[in-house]
Amino acid sequence: MQIGIIVESYWGNTAQIAEAIAAGARGAGAQTVAWSAADVPARIPDLDLLLVGAPTHSMKLPSRSSRRTAGRRGVHVPDSGVREWIDSADISSLPMVITFDTRVSPHSGSAAKDAAKRLTRAGGRVEQGEGFFIAGEPPVLKDGEAERAEQWGSRLVER
Ligand SMILES: Cc1cc2nc3c(=O)[nH]c(=O)nc-3n(C[C@H](O)[C@H](O)[C@H](O)COP(=O)(O)O)c2cc1C
Repeated sequence: MQIGIIVESYWGNTAQIAEAIAAGARGAGAQTVAWSAADVPARIPDLDLLLVGAPTHSMKLPSRSSRRTAGRRGVHVPDSGVREWIDSADISSLPMVITFDTRVSPHSGSAAKDAAKRLTRAGGRVEQGEGFFIAGEPPVLKDGEAERAEQWGSRLVER
């Protein structure tokens, strides 16, 4: 099984979750390839599953304005992310896309939900996947979230 992962991350938490998901998937026998959302190749190679992950900003996917806010908190911010990639991507040939995100709580909005909605509108076969929780300033993953991500990665291959 070939799994691609597109990830957007400012403090590294969503990237850490993506790495844990990939490790779990590889442990269950899959091969994985990952790209930063600002740097996805125009032609995505043949995949069985594409995972798309982003931090939740203002209840949704990061936007140009929320990235500027993150930048004022001292992190490097590129010009584009998952939101802009979806606007330009041709995902019609992908068999399955599953989204994930990081966020503060189950009730603080969801980038994964926003991404799933936009990807469905763009013609994909899409599921909203897991949310993983962060806390603190600067934000860090809550205890056990990387392990939960690894287990989710392995379940995605086995299902
Ligand atoms: C501008 C901005 C807006 C945010 N809005 C939300 C929000 O609406 N809900 C939420 O749960 N977390 C929110 N957060 C917290 C982010 O979800 C958190 O920074 C992110 O999960 C960290 O992931 P990263 O290290 O991959 O950037 C916000 C963060 C920033 C910088």
